[in-house]
Amino acid sequence: MYRVFGIIGDPVSHSLSPVMHNEAFRSLGFKAVYGAFWVRREELSQAVEALKVLKIQGLSVTIPHKEEIMKYLHEVDEVSRAIGAVNTILNKENTLLGLNTDWIGVKRAFEERNISLKGKRVAILGAGGASRAVIYALKREGASDIILYNRTWDKAKELADRFEIDAQPWESLNRAYGDIIIQTTSVGLKSKETPVDEKVLRNFEIAMDIVYLPLKTMFIYLAERMGLTTIDGLRMLLHQGVEQFKLFTGYDAPFKIMEKVIYEEAKKLEREFYLGHKDS
Ligand code: ATR
Repeated sequence: MYRVFGIIGDPVSHSLSPVMHNEAFRSLGFKAVYGAFWVRREELSQAVEALKVLKIQGLSVTIPHKEEIMKYLHEVDEVSRAIGAVNTILNKENTLLGLNTDWIGVKRAFEERNISLKGKRVAILGAGGASRAVIYALKREGASDIILYNRTWDKAKELADRFEIDAQPWESLNRAYGDIIIQTTSVGLKSKETPVDEKVLRNFEIAMDIVYLPLKTMFIYLAERMGLTTIDGLRMLLHQGVEQFKLFTGYDAPFKIMEKVIYEEAKKLEREFYLGHKDS
């Protein structure tokens, strides 16, 4: 019998997780399929019931359910509780366990480039869902100063207090400086916008984006042009997926295969995005 896995989110149609996991299953000859399930906020509790009834063995969870889903699970591990979000659910005979691999994605995105986070001063843009896992990874890896900037001050303050880091007003971004700047807002997603320009980027050495459509966001493009070391939005996605695959199957993930397929797919989406923006 084929095992069934999937992702729930809203929106979910452009997710790269299905191609990443299905290609990995195929390459290992693992009898499983991974689908994309479009679940709205108000349908979340029904989706959890369906997961049990349909014996779906594992789920990836994306925006906007990562926080809300926790209350429907039997168990949530300590790391996910510290982050305040779950991105992975394992269904063990209808006992649902919530885990988080996003922070590992962040950590490995730096490790693979031999960048140590220890003692680093890091500015984070955005206080939404993804920001939590980024902050957790930075703290755990020993970053010495973490400064959170968010358009809505109250959200920045709340998250900063929770994680005991600094918050600064969005309006003061032009005075930001440090070793690393991490872009976690949705600015730049399917657009040519960037939350910060060269004047801010020049005060940093390394820039990471979590947006991957287009793959080369304006933020990454400008950072590259300024000579910064850049980490694109697929690195975190890939590494969290590799960890998730291991949790789903018990097998080591075929890293290179997963990497190849998500870059191919992301480049396709990027081409479509630019074709749609021919005149702009
Ligand atoms: P959530 O998880 O809260 O649903 P998200 O999509 O993960 O949201 O995060 C959106 C992030 O992008 C937020 O930090 C948001 O800032 P606000 O808290 O002020 O809404 C940020 N964001 C979205 N559009 C933005 C813009 N035009 N300029 C600056 N930040 C923006």
